[in-house]
Amino acid sequence: MTFSAFQVTKTDDGFDRAIVDREVSDLPEGDVLIDVQFSSLNFKDGLSATGNPGVTRNFPHTPGIDAAGIVTESTDSAIPTGTEVVVIGFDLGMNTSGGFGQKVRVPSGWVVPRPEGLTLHESMILGTAGFTAAECIDKLETQGMTTASGPVLVTGATGGVGSVAVKVLSHLGYEVAAVTGKPDKHEFLTSLGANEILSREEMMEGGKRPLLADRWGGVVDTVGGEMLFNAVKSLRYGCSLAACGLVGGADIPATVFPFLLRHVNILGIDSVELPLAEKTRIWNRLAGEWKIDLSDLEEVLSLESLSGAIDRILVGQMVGRGVLHHN
Ligand SMILES: NC(=O)c1ccc[n+]([C@@H]2O[C@H](COP(=O)([O-])OP(=O)(O)OC[C@H]3O[C@@H](n4cnc5c(N)ncnc54)[C@H](OP(=O)(O)O)[C@@H]3O)[C@@H](O)[C@H]2O)c1
Repeated sequence: MTFSAFQVTKTDDGFDRAIVDREVSDLPEGDVLIDVQFSSLNFKDGLSATGNPGVTRNFPHTPGIDAAGIVTESTDSAIPTGTEVVVIGFDLGMNTSGGFGQKVRVPSGWVVPRPEGLTLHESMILGTAGFTAAECIDKLETQGMTTASGPVLVTGATGGVGSVAVKVLSHLGYEVAAVTGKPDKHEFLTSLGANEILSREEMMEGGKRPLLADRWGGVVDTVGGEMLFNAVKSLRYGCSLAACGLVGGADIPATVFPFLLRHVNILGIDSVELPLAEKTRIWNRLAGEWKIDLSDLEEVLSLESLSGAIDRILVGQMVGRGVLHHN
């Protein structure tokens, strides 16, 4: 049985991309074979498609860290044939053939039944990025963030994680400040619920000072680097920053002053190895009390348009969420 897939191949000059026919028999071992209906594009897929060894070591490879579809073969009675399922993270799309193919085979321990309240399509408009935005907000609230804490800052706001974070925070009644490098997308961010918009340059001001004016009741940071620590320096007393990304850099220029003088926290966020029970809990929030209208976040992608979108996400030019429709 063959299926269509986006495939990345290592060549003498770099990495080539093509749409190919693949054999189901070539998929890795696993309990569950899934007919993938939707996948989505995440920053990490861009790294995989360009041969980043921290993400993917074995080529040829089909990226796609997200997949939503219908189980067509199963050796696990808890997830029978016909179940609609969502898979994000674990090794999917890294060194396991991913959602940019029309079929994936995975261990049942990676699989979440489609949360009631979300369609398969909606689950992939959210995808890993939207899930991670929710994970950040969930952890900030666990640390005490409420709508009374102060405005919440979201960096990389027009991107996948950022745009969902802005919209969910606004839905929950938070005042939201959004940082963007795209001057032509201010209206888009306002329509998602941002109350204030800051440029990246504004976020870099005061970089040498140990503390900045205390403004934020919480921060969802997708950027890392200097922007992350400038946001830490602007947290209100006792508040927290959820660190999930590194598009602006992996190194943080830090001092201990904000921790000693303002009692603030940096919270680590990982969506990949988060235990399945926790993944299910976050998905249920996104399908329930945190459910937002997702229609204005989607850019529809096909196997043919995927390569161009990968080039855009690598330079920070995607807006919202790129969703791959397989059929
Ligand atoms: N920890 C986890 O489990 C987890 C899960 C998902 C994603 N992530 C990470 O989160 C980050 C964002 O992922 P994503 O899918 O949202 O990517 P994305 O859609 O490409 O969004 C990133 C956004 O960051 C901004 N940006 C890009 N380059 C920048 C730079 N050099 N300096 C400052 N801002 C920049 C851009 O927004 P503006 O133009 O609006 O500024 C861009 O749209 C990535 O590093 C990704 O690996 C981590």
